[in-house]
This record gives sequence, C-alpha cells and structure tokens, in this order.
Amino acid sequence: MPALVLLGAQWGDEGKGKATDLLGGSVDYVVRYQGGNNAGHTVVVGDQKYALHLLPSGILSPGCTPVIGNGVVVDPSVLLSELSGLNERGVDTSKLLISGNAHIITPYNVTVDKVTERFLGKRKIGTTGRGIGPTYADKINRVGIRVQDLYDESILTQKVEAALDGKNQLLTKLYNRRAIAVDQVVEELLGYAEKLAPYVTDTVLVLNQALEQDKVVLFEGGQGTLLDIDHGTYPFVTSSNPTAGGACTGSGVGPTKISRVIGILKAYTTRVGSGPFPTELLDADGEALRRIGGERGVTTGRDRRCGWFDAVIARYATRVNGLTDFFLTKLDVLTGWEEIPVCVAYEIDGKRVEELPYSQSDFHHAKPIYETLPGWSEDITKAKSFSDLPKNAQAYVKALEEMSGAPISAIGVGPGRDETIEVNSFL
Ligand code: GDP
Ligand code: IMO
Ligand code: MG
Repeated sequence: MPALVLLGAQWGDEGKGKATDLLGGSVDYVVRYQGGNNAGHTVVVGDQKYALHLLPSGILSPGCTPVIGNGVVVDPSVLLSELSGLNERGVDTSKLLISGNAHIITPYNVTVDKVTERFLGKRKIGTTGRGIGPTYADKINRVGIRVQDLYDESILTQKVEAALDGKNQLLTKLYNRRAIAVDQVVEELLGYAEKLAPYVTDTVLVLNQALEQDKVVLFEGGQGTLLDIDHGTYPFVTSSNPTAGGACTGSGVGPTKISRVIGILKAYTTRVGSGPFPTELLDADGEALRRIGGERGVTTGRDRRCGWFDAVIARYATRVNGLTDFFLTKLDVLTGWEEIPVCVAYEIDGKRVEELPYSQSDFHHAKPIYETLPGWSEDITKAKSFSDLPKNAQAYVKALEEMSGAPISAIGVGPGRDETIEVNSFL
C-alpha cells in the first residue's frame, strides 16, 4: 500500500488533526513534512481534547509510528514539553522518530521573528511568532542548525557562530536589541541533545523501507495551500510548502509512491493573520461563524477571520496539489442558516474570473460572486451516512463537490472521531 497525503486546502485550520487521527488507527506511520509549532492541530477523542503543535496527530493512535520529517523545523523545548504533556496524560510517545536533518528553531530565530514583525508595523504578516520564517531563511541561507548538529559540539559551535555573526549586527545596529551570546545558545541546545537522542534517526531510510514492506504511510500537512510559500497568497504566507510536493521534499519519499492526496476543506473559510481574503465577513454572519465554529487559534489564541465557502480557492487547491479527494469538515457549523452563499467566481475590475488570478494586485481587488444555496435547520451531528443528511445539506455538499473538482469522500459533522460520514473509503 503506497503513501497518502492529507493537507489543508484553504488557509489552515481546516481540521487536519481530526482527519489524521481518524485514519491513524489504520496506518503504520504518520509523518509531518513541513512547518513547525506554528501548527495547532486539535484532536478530540471521547471527552479528551488534545492540541498538537509539532507532533503528528498519529501519536494518539497506538500502533502508529509518528515521524517528524526532514522538512519540519523543530523547537526542541516545545517538542519536549509537548512530549511530557502527553506522557502525563498516559499517551505513549516512545515510538516517535525525528529526522537528523530537520532544522532547529533556535532562540535567536524566535527573537528575529518577533522583531521583524514589529518593524514591519502595518505591513506585518501576523506570524505566530514561533521563529518559523527565520529558521527556514537560515536553512536556505545555509546557516541553519540541524538536529544532528546537537551531537557534535565543535560543529554546533561553529555553526551558531556563523549564524549569529550577521544577526547580532542586525539586532544591535538595526533593531536596537542586545547581542545574543554564542556560548549561551550552544549550552542551551546541547542541553536538549541527550533527551532527544532516542528519537533521532535516518527517517528517509525508515520510511522508504516501510513502503517497500507495504506499510501504509500518511503525510500530515501543517498550514494550508493558500499559506504555501510558492503557491499561497505571498507574502502573507508561511515559509514552507504545505502543498503536496512538500510531502516529497520534506520526507525523502518520491512522488511515485504517493497514491492519494486528500484536501481538508472547511464548509466555510477561515484565515488567521494578515492578507487578502475575498469572502471575509465583517458582519453578524462572520461573528456567528466564529462563535458557532469555535474559530479561535489553537496556537496563538487569536480570533480567526471567517467567511463563506470559496470554490475558486477549492478548485485551485485541487489543481496545485493534484487532489484525489476532499474531506469536508464542519458542515454542522452551517446548520441554522436559511440560505448559504457560496463564492463561485470573482469579479475583478468589472470582469468575471473563474480561476484564482496569479497576480496579487488582481487578487487584492477580487470581489466574490455568490450563488445562494438553501440551508437546513435539522441537527446533523448524529448523521452516520450521506442519506442521513437533510436534503438541503446533501445538495450543499454535492454543489461544493461539483465546483471544487474532486470527490468529497468524507464529511465532518462534529469535532469527535466518530462524528464523520464516510462516503468513499480512503484506504
Ligand atoms: P487543523 O489545524 O487543520 O488541525 O485544525 P484546528 O484544530 O486548528 O481547527 C479545527 C477545529 O475544528 C478544531 O477545534 C476541531 O476540533 C474542530 N473540528 C474538526 N472537524 C470538525 C467538524 O466536522 N465539526 C466541528 N464542529 N468541529 C470540527
Ligand atoms: P495549522 O497547521 C492557520 C499563518 C499565520 C500567519 C502566517 C505566517 O494549525 O493549520 P508563520 O508563523 O507560519 O510564519 O506565520 O501563517 N499560520 C497559520 N494559520 N493555521 C496554521 O497552522 C498556521 N500556521 C501559520 O497566522 O498569517
Ligand atoms: Mg490549526
């Protein structure tokens, strides 16, 4: 059985944690391939709620091996506290594997993230302040620190020196901050080495051998398609590739091994941080979606911006990820609206546009063209099959499927593991 990718089709927070957890019991490995603890993935198991940041959601399924791939950026202190938090709740985390090639989020990367945002002022990205961008910048600039560097003090010291050289100039001369001492950083990082050692390995080899042995590997994306550094709403994006190709580079598994790419799609749209959002609602409907959907960030506690479903974005996600399926989440949140507008195209400078414009100036001017679908008022949280849904909810799902370009194979009707309608099997 080859590999599957599960990723966000919008601006993140689509319900990737829940969807991954649902499949966790039937897969052998769950792999994070990009991002870091900017992610906040919620999993609800019975009366227990878990918020995962760096750990793959498969960690909650006994029998599943969680993997942090080479494409992830790892804040060791966050990782260790996430592990001990889960241990305290009785979750076995001993199977975790961490790539020795994953990059480390150092304390100075977190500092740089915060000062750059402050200096951007009105133009800020609204990052999570977790050091994600600066850590990927160091990786690309070839001054990054990798997990394996923790096991060679001399190399680690040289690398921290190289990384801090330029940064201390910037911090002291431009940003008016104190310089960061190399020794202090090295000492802190070395302090994590022993604790992480049992998990660190060559995950590329492990995953490829597992696939040769017909094991099932699930890649769990962080963030979402429109936050992708290449395909998202740049510069209001994260600094990695949540899109399907990122699963290959971020894990060392080739594209020929991937058989299915599942886009997690919320039945409406949300976004955290700055940047364009054509269907955003700044009215009572937006407020109601936020309240009923519990749309508050898992990582930063910020209110999420809310708006109607945008089929232009869904079609784009299908295209850039080669999606084979959608998992539609939070349909239950739309219960109670008499009518539900869905954005089917944009109006840009007086013209109707069906596909996402590549030009940022056009996208910033895009006005949604809505089609209005009839709503439903029946409680759908107990629905177990598609036919259990009220006719108008069925029609809403079918309309979204037709507009979005890939089959909707599962529907979320509540946050719990069992509050899901399976339309087509994923495995
Ligand atoms: P992720 O980052 O993509 O994993 O998503 P988040 O966990 O940040 O946000 C999704 C929120 O929606 C979480 O609170 C989930 O528990 C919740 N959720 C997921 N699927 C459903 C669903 O089908 N219905 C409802 N009501 N909540 C859901
Ligand atoms: P999950 O995995 C929603 C957003 C931030 C900001 C931009 C850049 O839970 O879906 P960063 O700290 O990554 O440099 O911030 O990306 N962002 C997310 N929004 N869900 C996430 O993760 C996000 N991770 C980053 O709000 O706009
Ligand atoms: Mg989230």
